[in-house]
Amino acid sequence: MTRADVFDRLSSLADPTRSRLLLVLDRHELTVGELCAALQLPQSTVSRHLKQLGDLRWVVSRAEGASRLYRIVPRLDAAARKLWHVVRDQVAASDTARRDAQRVAAILEKRRRASQEFFTSAAGQWDALRAGLFGRRTDLVALLSLLDDRLVVGDLGCGTGQLTEVLAPAVGRVIAVDASRAMLATARRRLGDAANVDLRHGELERLPIDDGTLDVAVLFLVLHYVPEPVRALAEARRALSPAGRLLVVDMMPHEQGDLRERMGHVWQGIGEGMLAEWMDEAGFGPVQYRGLPVDETASGPALFAATARPRAALGAREGGPAAGAGAGAGAGGKRATERRSA
Ligand SMILES: C[S@@+](CC[C@H](N)C(=O)[O-])C[C@H]1O[C@@H](n2cnc3c(N)ncnc32)[C@H](O)[C@@H]1O
Repeated sequence: MTRADVFDRLSSLADPTRSRLLLVLDRHELTVGELCAALQLPQSTVSRHLKQLGDLRWVVSRAEGASRLYRIVPRLDAAARKLWHVVRDQVAASDTARRDAQRVAAILEKRRRASQEFFTSAAGQWDALRAGLFGRRTDLVALLSLLDDRLVVGDLGCGTGQLTEVLAPAVGRVIAVDASRAMLATARRRLGDAANVDLRHGELERLPIDDGTLDVAVLFLVLHYVPEPVRALAEARRALSPAGRLLVVDMMPHEQGDLRERMGHVWQGIGEGMLAEWMDEAGFGPVQYRGLPVDETASGPALFAATARPRAALGAREGGPAAGAGAGAGAGGKRATERRSA
């Protein structure tokens, strides 16, 4: 701040209305109307002082819908901050400032009441309103942000790439494998040239993925097609890092036998006991098998989600926390767990 600046800014603070405005805007972001109510001043007066405070870089404003909200400049330069703090300590101790603060509290309370009243009346319709405004999958897609964005995920039996499309923006890299060239061609069209997606043609029983590459392997609606599931699961285990994790989502045992003929299913659903045996044989530790909530719009059999870790990793996890983190090779090839400790 130049010397001239210092005097300009000091004289702008010398006005009691401007220092009151600044005190209120130091704590809250308010509209002109709210400032008029808080300071009990006409709009022309408030607007004029706001303009001067804006010109001297004490306040900034932003538009929100039809309103304009004002606040103190968020990061005042050090000299201006010093000046302001001297003035603020004097102004804040006055009765006028205390009354301003009480009126601001009432204004904020009114804002809160408006949203509370809305929720009181909208409780019955909120779910539909939320879905209409933001879509039905918004929670699940947002929850993907909890994933480590360095994860390398294998979408094994990726089909047309629906899962890969959802996962790719949230993780480091997706290696998507399928035996059907027709499905892969559709996946390629869907995924365009997503930089972190690697589509590969191959069999689950002979995965085109190097040992220990994956942090997460997903078999989504695939295992019921596989005549030798233990072979496919052992391959997934080989492709997983020792601290990796497998997710199998598939149909629970069901009575819709026509699906076998119509869609070529090999297994009429997969029960918990059967899956646990397969996983054990393939080298996985204990399986967590959970039935998924039934979607009322869906006509197919109920689904389960099962997760497990490679058996050797379980012993390692008991020995130390890093192996249990489940995050491994990032897009650059270095393991996420190593990078964290590096
Ligand atoms: C029902 S689709 C599911 C696709 C995708 N995972 C999804 O959830 O939409 C099953 C996919 O698994 C593939 N698949 C089945 N058996 C396979 C195998 N042994 N090796 C590789 N891919 C296989 C099929 O080509 C098909 O694209």
